[in-house]
Amino acid sequence: MFRGPAGLWPFVPFGQSPAVLVDDSRGMKILGVTAEKGGSGKSTLALSLSAVAAAGGKRVLVVDADPQQNSSLVLSGGALPTDSAGLAGVLLGGTADGAVLPATVPGVSYIPAGAGLADAAGVLLGEIGRERRLAVALSALVGRFDLVLVDSPPTRSILTVNAIVAADELLIPVSPGVWSLQGLGSLLGTVDQVRQYLNRPDLRVRGMVLSMVRRDKVSREVEAQLRGEFGDLVCRTTIPHSVKVEESHGRFRPVVTWSPKSAVSLAFEELGKEVL
Ligand SMILES: Nc1ncnc2c1ncn2[C@@H]1O[C@H](COP(=O)(O)OP(=O)(O)OP(=O)(O)O)[C@@H](O)[C@H]1O
Ligand SMILES: [Mg+2]
Repeated sequence: MFRGPAGLWPFVPFGQSPAVLVDDSRGMKILGVTAEKGGSGKSTLALSLSAVAAAGGKRVLVVDADPQQNSSLVLSGGALPTDSAGLAGVLLGGTADGAVLPATVPGVSYIPAGAGLADAAGVLLGEIGRERRLAVALSALVGRFDLVLVDSPPTRSILTVNAIVAADELLIPVSPGVWSLQGLGSLLGTVDQVRQYLNRPDLRVRGMVLSMVRRDKVSREVEAQLRGEFGDLVCRTTIPHSVKVEESHGRFRPVVTWSPKSAVSLAFEELGKEVL
């Protein structure tokens, strides 16, 4: 059993599945960006990697599965679409194709969360195939996109489970802090349950990404602990804390297009090379 720092809290058993190659034959990779922890850098990671991948020539779709609509707000340039049910509609039977909108980031499309996503999640609980609705909907987009990034809400819910089940691989941002490993243990438990009970033995954690890293003792300790516990599962590239990120989001832009030469943007580019 994996225990947190100093064994302070018990973690559910976590077994990384044997190396199973992701089936890329369909040509569309779905990366779930997830963490059962608020403010760990999920939306920032999804937004930044979408822009990096699009700049590299990939056809990119971002799916906003978080009722907070943070990534929808940036990708809509600050004007959330009012005439689209977004992901809320897709999960309740609409087509993904009909929900795709062009983003303000060049080369990126997105499915907005939709204002009714929180309510839709409640309705979804009574529906057949509730955990697989996103996976089924996205399968209709094969051929249209090379990369799909799914931004997730911070707590376990039917929306998070849909994001995980739809994904080929997961990227897990971890912001260094005293509670960061607690959320991680909980998420890894969810991943194991999805593998076991939702028929996804091939679901793979692509990597844990240290986000908002500062040059302080806490950051150093969390990084050492994470690398000690998970080894190569922790991405080599780390994302520094930078005020440019808040600045860019305030202007409804991913940081990599707002301030492409900043250290944080260069780190996201490097991360793109590592994980995409
Ligand atoms: N590298 C960074 N440096 C400084 N600020 C950052 C960095 N990355 C993210 N932030 C800021 O930290 C906050 C949390 O980041 P973000 O919204 O990406 O996390 P999240 O995990 O998506 O949050 P939530 O759980 O609420 O969805 C945001 O205000 C974001 O602008
Ligand atoms: Mg978010």
